[in-house]
Amino acid sequence: MGSPKSSISMSLLFFSSLLVLSLAFDASIITYAKKWEQRTNDEVMAMFESWLVEYGKSYNALGEKERRFEIFKDNLRFVDEHNADVNRSYKVGLNQFSDLTLEEYSSIYLGTKFDMRMTNVSDRYEPRVGDQLPNSIDWRKKGAVLGVKNQGNCGSCWTFAPIAAVEAINQIVTGNLISLSEQQIVDCQRKSPNNGCKGGSRAGAYQFIIDNGGINTEANYPYKAQDGECDEQKNQKYVTIDRYENVPRKNEKALQKAVSNQLVSVGIASNSSEFKAYKSGIFTGPCGAKIDHAVTIVGYGTEGGMDYWIVRNSWGSNWGENGYVRMQRNVGNAGTCFIATSPNYPVKYGPNPTNAHLSSYSMSNDNSLGANDGESNNA
Ligand SMILES: *[C@@H]1O[C@H](CO)[C@@H](O)[C@H](O)[C@H]1NC(C)=O
Ligand SMILES: *[C@@H]1O[C@H](CO)[C@@H](O)[C@H](O)[C@H]1NC(C)=O
Ligand SMILES: *[C@@H]1O[C@H](CO)[C@@H](O)[C@H](O)[C@H]1NC(C)=O
Repeated sequence: MGSPKSSISMSLLFFSSLLVLSLAFDASIITYAKKWEQRTNDEVMAMFESWLVEYGKSYNALGEKERRFEIFKDNLRFVDEHNADVNRSYKVGLNQFSDLTLEEYSSIYLGTKFDMRMTNVSDRYEPRVGDQLPNSIDWRKKGAVLGVKNQGNCGSCWTFAPIAAVEAINQIVTGNLISLSEQQIVDCQRKSPNNGCKGGSRAGAYQFIIDNGGINTEANYPYKAQDGECDEQKNQKYVTIDRYENVPRKNEKALQKAVSNQLVSVGIASNSSEFKAYKSGIFTGPCGAKIDHAVTIVGYGTEGGMDYWIVRNSWGSNWGENGYVRMQRNVGNAGTCFIATSPNYPVKYGPNPTNAHLSSYSMSNDNSLGANDGESNNA
């Protein structure tokens, strides 16, 4: 049995470690529970330091850390103030964008190019009398969707959104879920307006796969998050599609019919602080002024009387609900963030040719890659 003195220091040690534990615990939950006015500068600095560790960030330039801390503070205040309103249908939070201003986020991850032409509208998913659509569907539960991917600091969303739809239609038609190559499209689909990490159109991505006679796997032609030379040695054509089509515009019933049959890639407007910091719940906007990002709808449902789309993003699994955002559905006209403005999807009639992956590289100079009949996204 120790002396009174040593048991006092023992209990001091015990209580101080409790204190440290509770502080650490507090720092991780108060993000959503605290009012901005109640936070001290020390506390916000501690949150910034742990955020830096969590996202593996460090700054080299003189004064950069101080500058980033001020931006982080602004972003944290935005999170606190948004979440203080308990009536909101969605929460925001800290994520990989928390040291960026809205202008920086939009210029790195989003873009300005948008082409409204829709030359491939099909009546395949036009609503008809007698249609019986499921009330909800989630293609993730049907084995048609891979884990969320991350485009990194490269404006290649226009390849990720169609690739997810092609991976799914391949699974639906052939039973095989294979991760496919975004990088092959980034490198090889260079016909204007498609421009690798500087943006492109979903239509151009589908058109590349059609004209090329197939697309390689992620494993064979891995993602690099930067522009590269088209690698002719890596043109094994594992998965083919036959066409791509647009869902009738501004028609969420048609979009629902399409999504009940397959994954659909869409353009959305995402230049807002709310979308940038989205964490969970049903996103209702604000969205930004114009379509600047491409994502993929993988399902839909209803929660608490509010209809939503399940939307797969390509910003890794730390963003949103494990990489997904649920967006309000059946709002009419163009939909939340213009989601119903330019939906398109691949069409696949049958299995992949057995020897398709053996065919050699055969891209001619006069091919018509990148018919820009969707839009151009720079995200
Ligand atoms: C939330 O909604 C309820 C019921 O409509 C209302 O009484 C309350 O004031 C609202 N709270 C806030 C923070 O707006
Ligand atoms: C995004 O929105 C902000 C705030 O409205 C604006 O300053 C910025 O220019 C926008 N970015 C783009 C790429 O349009
Ligand atoms: C429609 O899409 C197909 C590919 O499915 C393409 O070959 C064709 O050129 C497109 N039509 C128009 C008018 O753009």
